[in-house]
Amino acid sequence: MTIDAEAFNRFEAAGWEARAASYAFLQPITNRVIASLLGAADVRRDHQVLDVGCGPGDLAGAAAAIGADTVGIDVAPSMVRRAAIAHPSIPFRVGSFEAIPAGAGAFDAVVGNFVLNHVGRPGVALAEARRVLRPGGWLALSSWDAPRRNRVLGLVLDAVAYAGAPSPAGLPAGPTNFRSDDELRELFHGAGFTDVGVSHVMFEAPAPDTETLWRGVLDSAVRIPPLVVHQPADVQARIREGFERLAAVHRRSDGTLAIPVAVQVTRGRRP
Ligand SMILES: C[S@@+](CC[C@H](N)C(=O)[O-])C[C@H]1O[C@@H](n2cnc3c(N)ncnc32)[C@H](O)[C@@H]1O
Repeated sequence: MTIDAEAFNRFEAAGWEARAASYAFLQPITNRVIASLLGAADVRRDHQVLDVGCGPGDLAGAAAAIGADTVGIDVAPSMVRRAAIAHPSIPFRVGSFEAIPAGAGAFDAVVGNFVLNHVGRPGVALAEARRVLRPGGWLALSSWDAPRRNRVLGLVLDAVAYAGAPSPAGLPAGPTNFRSDDELRELFHGAGFTDVGVSHVMFEAPAPDTETLWRGVLDSAVRIPPLVVHQPADVQARIREGFERLAAVHRRSDGTLAIPVAVQVTRGRRP
């Protein structure tokens, strides 16, 4: 499969531009990885920190709260506006992970919460992170673990597979959405990072019911919704049926859901 990184990046940027208003379901889930990222990147008071793919800006906000001098960038102007409203004392600007608008050695730490899997050229992005880090500085990036462990996305993806739904035309091929620990380590080593390590963050995300979970994933993600909404009505109905069956496994005695979430946090140090 040939990857068209430009088309993929355009698709991602347009998708996230439209998501700023509806990115409410995933935000409290991704926020639970913030402490692990700041720890992995050894963020401290007075450090210069970049939050790349900042979205609503909560990772940058947490870095600033511990006294770091923080900036955030995101490819989607609507996300940058949202971050600036939520965290008015932090400078946020439009910018791509593949062309970071900062000089060489500008940061003690670069952190990114769930941005790696949205970048068309991950090798270029990591080379950029390396360029803007000072020697000894840390890069820490989170990513969704495999769907069989991370059920918050896995439930929809498995339901799509069980329904035999083909991938709709017009979705640009991109790099893999999920990477093994070995692939993450290889990616970081390939970009020249040392002391590379992958740690795992696991928890349960609560959801009041399956409708909230279904709508939440479809309204907060970019590449998963087309796999469902671009199918004919009967196929969509089969996907939803499968989703209901799979989600039922995670129902608690009070009728609400507790969905297993699994995240990889990869870090590496600029030599
Ligand atoms: C899943 S959201 C994560 C947002 C936030 N970091 C969080 O944890 O909630 C992915 C974010 O990455 C941004 N993004 C996607 N591709 C990017 C790129 N090439 N450069 C910078 N940001 C990018 C999107 O606009 C979106 O805000």
